[in-house]
Amino acid sequence: MQEQSGTAPTGCPLSAQAQKFDAFGDEFRLDPAEALRWAREQEPVFYSPKLGYWIVSRFADVKAVFRDNILFSPSIVLEKITPSPPEAAEILKRYNYALNRTLVNEDEPAHMQRRRLLMDDFLPERLDHHAPMIRNLTRAAMDRFIEKGRAELVADMFWEIPQVVALKFLGVDEEDIEDLKSFSVAHTTNTWGRPEPEEQLAVAEAVGQFWQASGRILDKMKANPDAPGWMQTSIRQHLAHPDIVTESYLHSMMMAILVAAHETTANASANAFRMLLSQPGVWDEIVENPALIPNAVEECLRHSGPIAAWRRQATQDTELGGVAIPEGAKLLIATASANHDERQFENPDLLDLYRDNSAEHLTFGYGSHQCMGKNIGRMEMRIFLDEFTRRLPHIKLKQDQEFEFPANISFRGPKAVRVEWDPALNPEKVNPDAIRPAIDFPIGSPERQSIMRHLKVASADRHAGVLHLTLQDPRGRDLPAWSAGAHIDLTVGDYVRKYSLCGDAANRKSWQVAILREDGGRGGSVHIHDTLDAGSKISVTGPHNHFHLGEADERYVLIAGGIGITPILAMADRLKATGRSYALHFAGRKLGDMPLLDRVQRDHGDCLTIYAGDKSRRMDLAQITGGSSVAQPVYACGPERLLTELEELAKDWPEHSLHIEHFSAAENLLDPEKEHGFEVELTDSGLTLSVRPDQTLHQALIEAGIDIACDCKEGLCGSCEATVMAGGIDHRDRVLSQAERAEGKRMMTCCSRAKDDKISLAL
Ligand code: FES
Repeated sequence: MQEQSGTAPTGCPLSAQAQKFDAFGDEFRLDPAEALRWAREQEPVFYSPKLGYWIVSRFADVKAVFRDNILFSPSIVLEKITPSPPEAAEILKRYNYALNRTLVNEDEPAHMQRRRLLMDDFLPERLDHHAPMIRNLTRAAMDRFIEKGRAELVADMFWEIPQVVALKFLGVDEEDIEDLKSFSVAHTTNTWGRPEPEEQLAVAEAVGQFWQASGRILDKMKANPDAPGWMQTSIRQHLAHPDIVTESYLHSMMMAILVAAHETTANASANAFRMLLSQPGVWDEIVENPALIPNAVEECLRHSGPIAAWRRQATQDTELGGVAIPEGAKLLIATASANHDERQFENPDLLDLYRDNSAEHLTFGYGSHQCMGKNIGRMEMRIFLDEFTRRLPHIKLKQDQEFEFPANISFRGPKAVRVEWDPALNPEKVNPDAIRPAIDFPIGSPERQSIMRHLKVASADRHAGVLHLTLQDPRGRDLPAWSAGAHIDLTVGDYVRKYSLCGDAANRKSWQVAILREDGGRGGSVHIHDTLDAGSKISVTGPHNHFHLGEADERYVLIAGGIGITPILAMADRLKATGRSYALHFAGRKLGDMPLLDRVQRDHGDCLTIYAGDKSRRMDLAQITGGSSVAQPVYACGPERLLTELEELAKDWPEHSLHIEHFSAAENLLDPEKEHGFEVELTDSGLTLSVRPDQTLHQALIEAGIDIACDCKEGLCGSCEATVMAGGIDHRDRVLSQAERAEGKRMMTCCSRAKDDKISLAL
């Protein structure tokens, strides 16, 4: 550790705040994101003389460090941050303690060679069978305290279950589980904590015993390598590839994985329950709408994750966030701070169950060293929440408790979380039949479609084949703000359909959509027309906006055909409200049937031109766009014929002049008969996957455990975009412009494919 001084190792002067920063101090320990707020705003990468590390605080910089594991080596992840006294080293020697590099801290090429051999047991399809075991453990733990009316969740449950799950995942026999249970915490204190000198010796004893016990158990496992368990898989890989998965590696991995799986999940669960129970209304929201559980887990991992920071070492002189970093510099990459970066997460300090990019958090790391056990951790936390919201919906945090966090630069979670409830109100006593069934959520990051609000239909008016819905929160709560061009997804029966918001954007109490009945369509609009009425309940996701209105121009051309008026009307409202100049062109078959016409005329009559087929007035697109320039962007929504004609015209326009929203996907979606398989290389994760002819690229990514969003699944929304590093692209989306396609740098993974045999993505 370095002495406090006024300059960084590069000779640059240090700010007062950088000199003051203390990674073991109360501020960082209690609230790491808040403690680095100043850094995110003013000095995103700075040198901390108290720690002897460079601190990285912004999302983009932390992700960049994770992404490049050659320039930023993970070799120091398990280095002791508080040096041991010689006596502790003597103790460890006595136990023949020899922890080697493991998956978490080894460099390339060894790391990826091993990771590839050892990761199959972590793939989503291999994890399902652990769910019943986790649920049984959870129920048994709850049975022990449910009648008492109080519990300390860490001691009574969160400490024990992740450890047992980790041991069972590893393949440790029931009889050996007790042997290992007491030791793993010593390893985290030893590595990332600040034990007092006298404590160091006790910690070293425990680490030594842990090392020996895990060695004994490993020897037993080697005698039966065909038994189930990840260690047995590793032993079999050792037998097949002894030069890659070495003997000593097995021992180190067993210890490292146990720690990684146990303490992180225990802390994550304690953090999550603390957060969810302390925010007004949040717990009740999940009780009422348990489909939110996967996203609630993700949002807690983002907002208050179990990993506050991680470590890397620069292998050459470089620059990060505009700051020169010398070769050999040690970096503390503050994931807790990155997860609160407003450049990445809107309103980041709010715990928002409906946030649809929560899963972009960096709590699991990113790239080739991303936590392999992330989906088991998620599964455990989801089951905990599922069981508690079913069986103890009336649980409360015990009032006036202080939350204590151990001194540790990486692992973060309260030592205790005390909760209470009235056992007389337990649903199992009051009305056991009313307890909802348990939910087994799909493995992986939350599906956006599950982040649903339950709203009520306040009014439903039908006119000329269009259903006008006003939606409100049943408890009268405000709805989220939305911007012009945004849409929501309605789930009605088996149908999920997108509709643009077209009401008053300033009214936070209600949303309005207008839905055209399409008798020859895919059935969704007809079903919605036939089933919804005032008082109906409806599930909604969003708002999402993939049709943004740029606001830097002076004059705009807005073009709508038929029901395509809905997003265009919202844009006209916005332009009017902000004093911009615009021309609104609105076409329809019959004047009397044109949707929302009264409102359009009332609010935008001055700028409006109407083209009604029954009045023989046709829209001349070439004339009204007049060879558009960037100074006069065109926004259009309507039937495919209209949009195709505009796209043709726009071929000669300056880039980014035309902005359109399609109602439907391109025709050429996946047809296995006509497709070819291809390989996809993931440069950030160090993996190569095969995409079969009968699957989308996105499906192959999810099967490999890569978290990537997918909203519309049909090339309309842009949520599944990936950056292309090399290889030709067969674009099939409706999101990218001609110019963007020609550039060949971006693709939509839900529908687009490799043109040839291989493509490389920055994932
Ligand atoms: Fe919408 Fe791919 S998920 S474009």
